[in-house]
Amino acid sequence: MSNKPLIAVWGNPGSGKTLTTIKLAKALAAKKQNVLILCCDALCPSTSTILPQAAKQQRSLGELLSLPSLTQEELLRYALPLDDSPHIALIGYKKGDTAYMYASYNRERAVDLLTLARHLADVILVDCSSYLSADPLSTIALELADTVFRLHSCELKSLMFYASYLPLLTDLRFRRSLNVSVLSNVKVGQNEKEYSQVFGGIEVTLPYVTELEQQTADARLLDDLSGKDAKTYLSGVEHLIQLALPEEHQQVAKSKDKSSKTSTSNTTTLNLLNWLKSFLPKRRGDGQ
Ligand SMILES: Nc1ncnc2c1ncn2[C@@H]1O[C@H](COP(=O)(O)OP(=O)(O)OP(=O)(O)O)[C@@H](O)[C@H]1O
Ligand SMILES: [Mg+2]
Repeated sequence: MSNKPLIAVWGNPGSGKTLTTIKLAKALAAKKQNVLILCCDALCPSTSTILPQAAKQQRSLGELLSLPSLTQEELLRYALPLDDSPHIALIGYKKGDTAYMYASYNRERAVDLLTLARHLADVILVDCSSYLSADPLSTIALELADTVFRLHSCELKSLMFYASYLPLLTDLRFRRSLNVSVLSNVKVGQNEKEYSQVFGGIEVTLPYVTELEQQTADARLLDDLSGKDAKTYLSGVEHLIQLALPEEHQQVAKSKDKSSKTSTSNTTTLNLLNWLKSFLPKRRGDGQ
């Protein structure tokens, strides 16, 4: 199995990284892509805000990163399957976590994790921490990603954030040409044009949608969007997928249907939930 696309979602604090990651995962899952989400934020662990039913789960990205050795089996053991979205699994920090609770890890460990992940799912989405200095995994994801969605918001704090952090990414290994600039959570009346210019050009704009804010507040980000305002937002997400993924990833729905009739030997043709279940303890959420 070849390396699968790695997409990093990064941006200023509160720019919509987590929300965008989840909506990208849903759009990809609708195309029958198996998606593994890595949520790097240890400051406000997001697993139970995305998956409230996982609030009691014991598995944490912090623990996975500090295991004596990493294997595909361990990675699968830590991945939480989503009952309602069988093509999506998630690894993140659990409720109550702080980064200080786990042994620190080095660059090599972060590379190993991302490399193993790229052999497990069709697409890897990394919801990066804004604070690169505090999160090596996010930094390495920015370095190794095939595409980085760089989320900006129409706020002075976004300008200040990029003024501080972009200079840290000037090294050639960060391949900034692979970044896609996104203006996120754009509200009516905000000065979209001016901010786009200041940020050096924006490729995709994601509008503010009340329903999305409500979904976040109710921990229902995995729900579909139904309101008419969501249309422009969802076409923005599709645009991101077109920019990031080669065509074959966007048309897998048809080809997978065909291939699953002829072969089940390749794990990417199985749905991720069934696949993960074989690695999971009998009762979900009991950790061991
Ligand atoms: N397009 C949008 N429409 C409505 N609300 C949005 C949109 N994008 C983001 N938001 C809201 O902005 C807030 C921040 O979003 P989110 O948590 O995804 O950002 P983040 O970049 O992951 O934040 P953090 O830096 O804390 O991890 C949330 O309340 C979310 O609902
Ligand atoms: Mg977040």
